[in-house]
Amino acid sequence: MDTMIFLLVISTLPSFAVAEVLSVAPFHTSVEQLTSNSRIFSGEGVQLRCRIPEGQKSTWHYLWFHGATQLPLSTENFTLWNAKVKEGGEYSCQGERDTMVGPIRTLKSQPVEIHVDGGWAILQVTPHPVLVGETLKMTCRVRRNPKLSEVILYKDGVEFRRQSGFNPHFNLTVRLEDQGLYSCRATWTMQRRSHSVISVATQVYVLEVLTKPVLEIVLEDNTPTVSMRLVCHLQYNSPAPAPPISYYFYRNGTQLSTSSSENNILVNQKPGQYSCKARVPKLDLLRWSDPKTLEK
Ligand SMILES: *[C@@H]1O[C@H](CO)[C@@H](O)[C@H](O)[C@H]1NC(C)=O
Ligand SMILES: *[C@@H]1O[C@H](CO)[C@@H](O)[C@H](O)[C@H]1NC(C)=O
Ligand SMILES: *[C@@H]1O[C@H](CO)[C@@H](O)[C@H](O)[C@H]1NC(C)=O
Repeated sequence: MDTMIFLLVISTLPSFAVAEVLSVAPFHTSVEQLTSNSRIFSGEGVQLRCRIPEGQKSTWHYLWFHGATQLPLSTENFTLWNAKVKEGGEYSCQGERDTMVGPIRTLKSQPVEIHVDGGWAILQVTPHPVLVGETLKMTCRVRRNPKLSEVILYKDGVEFRRQSGFNPHFNLTVRLEDQGLYSCRATWTMQRRSHSVISVATQVYVLEVLTKPVLEIVLEDNTPTVSMRLVCHLQYNSPAPAPPISYYFYRNGTQLSTSSSENNILVNQKPGQYSCKARVPKLDLLRWSDPKTLEK
């Protein structure tokens, strides 16, 4: 069963314009990274895989893009061998297949960013972004793997951790305030000469599992009852399967209905002070919104 959207695509060629009909199958293709690091040294490799939702796979062939440029390959897996600095950037893919009505394509995937570093040190960070409470692993990798004598981790340009001896790994149980720009410096001695290299800085994003809710009051004039909708906005970032979340709504400190997995309820318009609360019992999380006042 193919649901299709027909699009009229006008592409402009140097001297004339051609109109072609392209059909788009609304499958959300994605790029999966098979090798673990998105930050590599020039000369190293990275492997990507194009995922088309299950069941649709066998009949598609694959289009790959580096930025806006289409690459000359049509396989499911894409390996970048012996990467050059200019080959860094965003990679995305798309599925295509021939049908009676002409070629149809999936939607283009979200891009995956590969950094190819031509320098001597890189700071590899996994997983990324990271949730509050998770362990962030940071590794200061040095080209040709010399035996290090000291590794310093900087956050926002200030020394954050220091390790002596051959251990380029830092494990960090993250708090929200650990978000920032990280870099590392590695030092080693070779033939009685001391060498020191510093990596490019990497932004580390930290997500809260449950953000502070924001209550929105939407007035609705659907006579005869004059009602309003209370909407509790938040972001719930939990790896699947995410434990259930419940929402609670309050007016002047009194709960308005039983808890629900829905983030909104319809109530009568009445002046008062409103707030909402979200709870994830399995993760022992509970957060309140700021109150909002509805005047007469
Ligand atoms: C792509 O790579 C994955 C993981 O290594 C493998 O399972 C799969 O068979 C590969 N696909 C092809 C067409 O080689
Ligand atoms: C970081 O954690 C890994 C296991 O996840 C462990 O192998 C490694 O020794 C730890 N590194 C440090 C510096 O604690
Ligand atoms: C809530 O309290 C305010 C004053 O603090 C009052 O004006 C309003 O009527 C109260 N609302 C309800 C529904 O009790």
